[in-house]
Amino acid sequence: MKLSGKTIILTGAAGGIGEALARRFSRENPRALLLLDLHESKLQTLAGRLSIDNLETGTGDVSDPADIKAWVDHMEARYGGVDLFCSNAGIFAAGGADADLSAWQKSLDVNVMAHVHAARACLPGMLARGSGYFLQTISAAGLLSQIGSAPYTVSKHASLGFAEWLAITHGRDGIGVTALCPQGVRTDMLSTIDNVDTVAGDGLAGTDEVAECAADAIARETFLALPHPRVADYFRRKAEDHDRWIRGMQRLQEKLAGQ
Ligand SMILES: NC(=O)c1ccc[n+]([C@@H]2O[C@H](COP(=O)([O-])OP(=O)(O)OC[C@H]3O[C@@H](n4cnc5c(N)ncnc54)[C@H](O)[C@@H]3O)[C@@H](O)[C@H]2O)c1
Repeated sequence: MKLSGKTIILTGAAGGIGEALARRFSRENPRALLLLDLHESKLQTLAGRLSIDNLETGTGDVSDPADIKAWVDHMEARYGGVDLFCSNAGIFAAGGADADLSAWQKSLDVNVMAHVHAARACLPGMLARGSGYFLQTISAAGLLSQIGSAPYTVSKHASLGFAEWLAITHGRDGIGVTALCPQGVRTDMLSTIDNVDTVAGDGLAGTDEVAECAADAIARETFLALPHPRVADYFRRKAEDHDRWIRGMQRLQEKLAGQ
């Protein structure tokens, strides 16, 4: 899908990958761009550096369906529809099955349900117009696993499942979906992770590189956007021999634990 002339909503835009996506999308001359996050002041700083028409910012919690619906309604009323919804906001919580139940719930609310809320708010308009697009920032953890975090692994698998379902169910209705699945990316999120080697994998990517990969996948309308191309090889090996893949991951976990 060409972004020129399109109306875009982007969540988690105040920093990290979201900020890079905002800068990348603004180069495409969209009709309108709405940047959402919890942090209004950071959004204002970013907006001050972007010179495009119809740039809007708003605060909202992506895990609140009312917030998402209100912003989609606003953009539909003002610009006639939302062409691209980017569910990028996400959180990381460390821990196993015994992680706090509140961390489990929040991971599911932000990393999974936010994507569902966006689809529920946007799909009626998109289906009526016969076109629309969802970019969902997931993670390589959605295709593989996240050593050290059960809530992140489970929530990212669930969001990938939802993205696949959307593409299967509505692809023929003119709805495109791209699942952005990077390994480690240099953002503030990494500062919340104790052993960064667990996400570094094949090296940390920069946010601009990740945004470029996402924009390219949207332009080509491909489902997977993989800023770290080796993730495709790991995913293939996992599908070829699941038991062997789990043994390999167990060895990796032991290696990281011994560091
Ligand atoms: N950094 C990585 O290594 C990495 C790797 C793979 C995937 N991801 C995914 O990329 C996405 C962006 O992460 P990032 O690395 O840029 O992290 P980040 O922490 O730098 O940015 C996340 C942004 O989301 C916002 N946010 C969090 N919860 C929100 C909520 N409930 N409502 C609205 N906004 C909210 C934050 O305020 C922040 O601005 C996430 O979905 C993350 O899981 C990150």
